[in-house]
Amino acid sequence: MSNIGKEIAQAAQLLKDGFCVAVPTETVYGLAADGTNEEAILKIFFTKQRPQSNPLILHFPTIQAIEPFIEDFPEKLQKLASFFWPGPLTLLLPKSALVPAIVTAGNERVAVRVPKHPMFRELLAQLTFPLAAPSANKYGSISPTQAAHVQQQFGEEIPYILDGGTCENGLESTIIGMENETVVVYRLGSIPIEAIAEVLKEEPLISTNHNNGKVLASGMVKHHYAPNTPLYFFDEQFTFTPNDGFIFFEKNRMNCSSEQVIVLSKNGNLTDAAANLYAALHQMDKQGFQRIFIEKFPNVDLGRTINDRLSRATAKYS
Ligand code: TXA
Ligand code: MG
Repeated sequence: MSNIGKEIAQAAQLLKDGFCVAVPTETVYGLAADGTNEEAILKIFFTKQRPQSNPLILHFPTIQAIEPFIEDFPEKLQKLASFFWPGPLTLLLPKSALVPAIVTAGNERVAVRVPKHPMFRELLAQLTFPLAAPSANKYGSISPTQAAHVQQQFGEEIPYILDGGTCENGLESTIIGMENETVVVYRLGSIPIEAIAEVLKEEPLISTNHNNGKVLASGMVKHHYAPNTPLYFFDEQFTFTPNDGFIFFEKNRMNCSSEQVIVLSKNGNLTDAAANLYAALHQMDKQGFQRIFIEKFPNVDLGRTINDRLSRATAKYS
């Protein structure tokens, strides 16, 4: 389609002019706008149909570029940043006055990330402002991991989709902040808890659900990341029909036609399964099944992030 392309300069110009542009990242595609321009940011909320109570992540080319936008950078989080940036880590840090209130939905902390995708980095390097970007999907649905997924959801609603190929990680960033001296994980993501704990030399606290009734992150909402087709965890007890689709981790556990089945990683690799997960859900949605069944993953490393997303997606239909 005409609004998909690889022209970084064109994307940069549109962003300078206050438009939204879909951008590739190593996690999922983002719907980006000038993070210092309130009017541009409003276009993100409008296009995504996302409530303004839901704050946005600011993306920067370097750690140094973040400094004017924050008041403090606790040592433990600096340690994580120097280990995982550029990469799929988002940190919640005390915001400075430079961050518009609409970015943080009035929160004292701003979410910041230095991404790894080369095309996104090149784009950020051409700009003098950070990019606010949520995942480039309508509120509540599955994140896009290919330019075509963005196109399917938004069509011509976005002036430009910068095509950076298939996202390497395929799951959103891991979101981390501090509460007093404790490191807290607010959203499981592309960096597994095990890797965080190894760098910190301590176990982080995991707080990925509603906090005292207050929603901190939209990804913490129970019904989220859902396909349009009803999704259920696979269980041999179900009575299946030819109108059901199946997604398995490493091997086909059903005796049915191959069009009905997607196996995410034939050699049982969680990294590959994570990278393929959202594309598989998008694909099954397109095939028009009545129901999709997906196997639960081993609850370790990225399997834990995948199970988190699937629990939220299946909750919508349970
Ligand atoms: O991998 C990612 O993080 C992708 C790419 C595009 O960077 N972005 C992404 O954004 O997943 P989004 O908006 O779909 O999810 C970001 C989450 C939301 O659940 C939001 O509520 C939370 O981060 N968040 C953002 N700013 C926050 C803040 N100041 N305090 C608490 N939560 C925040
Ligand atoms: Mg999202």
